[in-house]
Amino acid sequence: MALRFEILGRFNRARAAQLTLPHFVCQTPLFMPVGTQGTIKGLTTSQLEEIGCQIILGNTYHLALRPTSELIDELGGLHKFMNWPRALLTDSGGFQMVSLLHLADITEKGVTFQSPVDGKPMLLTPEESIQIQNRIGADIIMALDDVVRTTITGPRIEEAMYRTLRWIDRCIEAHKRPNEQNLFGIVQGGLDPVLRDICVRGLVDRNLPGYAIGGLSGGEDKDSFWRVVAQCTASLPEDKPRYVMGVGYPLDIVVCSALGADMYDCVYPTRTARFGAALIPEGVLKLKHRAMADDTRPIDPTCMCMVCKNYTRAYIHCLVTKDAMGSQLLSYHNLYYMMKLSNDLHSSIIEGQFPEFVCGFLQKMFPKGD
Ligand code: GUN
Ligand code: ZN
Repeated sequence: MALRFEILGRFNRARAAQLTLPHFVCQTPLFMPVGTQGTIKGLTTSQLEEIGCQIILGNTYHLALRPTSELIDELGGLHKFMNWPRALLTDSGGFQMVSLLHLADITEKGVTFQSPVDGKPMLLTPEESIQIQNRIGADIIMALDDVVRTTITGPRIEEAMYRTLRWIDRCIEAHKRPNEQNLFGIVQGGLDPVLRDICVRGLVDRNLPGYAIGGLSGGEDKDSFWRVVAQCTASLPEDKPRYVMGVGYPLDIVVCSALGADMYDCVYPTRTARFGAALIPEGVLKLKHRAMADDTRPIDPTCMCMVCKNYTRAYIHCLVTKDAMGSQLLSYHNLYYMMKLSNDLHSSIIEGQFPEFVCGFLQKMFPKGD
């Protein structure tokens, strides 16, 4: 195992921990920005350090196509290639293919898809996904899983869960750098508590360094989503990190942390920035709105970030959709917001102030109580 996970404080099911990875000592709960192609669009790695970002997510699928894992390996690994000294996590690729290319076909061998480069059919097997991730060199690598949307029902959900369990053994067998990289398993099973339970037990038997809860954030209602997270966190080991994949909105992160989850990733803060929206304690501020044109306040007067210290809403309104600087400034602020949210969760749990923090968060976001 190439990590240490020490719980520093708890409040009911919520935990604040120190997660020591080969490249960085992280504090949880934590949020990981998504840097699909080895970059968080529009931000430099020194800006990411300045914001307090601890770990970045990269995608095996994208990096394998360009610049290729062989080249990254040859050039000394992804940390060096992208000039990022802190921790990295790579997702295995299956989910990206299924979500991005509807043409992907899943069989027992692996995921077959049409290469976006030359249109030829390509096969990504569990072994290959791990081999590629071994070359990329992230601190945490993800098992190849069979992902289906939670909104579908029937035998396909069961098939995908059992296949994910069969594939985990192929991933473990293929993993050649267990002392430098941590392989996390992914719990599947849709919204079915029986299937989720079988999957959790199967993965826990493999004694992996950490576990992810997958197959969520796909359009299911919040009640079902939170129920699955609550069930999985209740039966995953206490002394290992728990990662809810593809989540999420600030509210989801607060709720999942209360349910005992530790790690999150989502494109939302940076994607919404590119659409001209800022995350603020009250919810979302749309910088494109006409009312912003002569508003001389910062995005969020309570925010201490570089953007809120230096720029007005009027200025960002003027840039947004016209110049890349608009979405860069918004991405900076939005990621700062997510980092501050993670830090506040961490410290409020340690200081015994978690309920007060959650109440304050909810009151600002839902002032009318709805
Ligand atoms: N990203 C969001 N959800 C998932 C999932 O279920 N599996 C994988 N591999 N990545 C994800
Ligand atoms: Zn700010």
